[in-house]
Amino acid sequence: MLKLGVNIDHVATIREARYRGRTTGEPDPIAAALICEHAGAHGITAHLREDRRHILDRDIVKLRESIKTRLNLEMANSPEIIQIALRIKPEIVCLVPERRQELTTEGGLDVVGNLASLIDTRKKMNAAGIDVSLFIDPDPRQIEAAAKSGAQFIELHTGAFADKFHDANERDKELQRLISGATQAHGLGLSVNAGHGLNYDNLQMLRQVPHLIELNIGHSIISRAIFIGLANAVREMLQLMENYPASS
Ligand code: PXP
Repeated sequence: MLKLGVNIDHVATIREARYRGRTTGEPDPIAAALICEHAGAHGITAHLREDRRHILDRDIVKLRESIKTRLNLEMANSPEIIQIALRIKPEIVCLVPERRQELTTEGGLDVVGNLASLIDTRKKMNAAGIDVSLFIDPDPRQIEAAAKSGAQFIELHTGAFADKFHDANERDKELQRLISGATQAHGLGLSVNAGHGLNYDNLQMLRQVPHLIELNIGHSIISRAIFIGLANAVREMLQLMENYPASS
């Protein structure tokens, strides 16, 4: 069964837009994570960025304490965040690019160019009982380097496929790259996840990509939640307003 990890960064992005620098604020990403779990999500994904633009340190601590499924911490390969991960002990970390030199032209992690340092981090994580995933483009060189790194997982970057979805030719090319990438990675002994830009329209086509274990999806789920939840939110507010004394 294909598993779903819900990325809750987008909930924190909305909170930070209004409550940046405060110790509380809504919407609470932890409450959102618990709703996702209750609805059947197999894991929760959160990206603690070096610039703390959405998820904050306190969110990661509370998520670790609260969720019952699996915590997938997305993170840069940076000393400060590595120390936090080793302390929090998520089930898995997904190493993602945040700085220019870690990034391929397409947007995945440049494993080829950063192999030694990624191996070092991979060993530290594994020694602490944490699995490691590398967020990479479906590029044969990057996949080969990922296998060399000893990582347990890769997460195939589906952003190009999602971006080109409405151009049949380009989309089919990207889909073929994902199919080849997943096949290559599986052959090299890597477990394969995928994510970025997946939504309610493009998901169906991803069935053609073999060997996928988990999809990490955020933006489209949070976006859809607005539309399937907005009517209830308005009704609740109207109910609260009902007791207002009639004006004369
Ligand atoms: N996987 C990784 C590595 C990500 O960084 C993100 C968030 O950008 C996602 C999956 C989820 O992407 P989206 O929010 O587009 O569904």
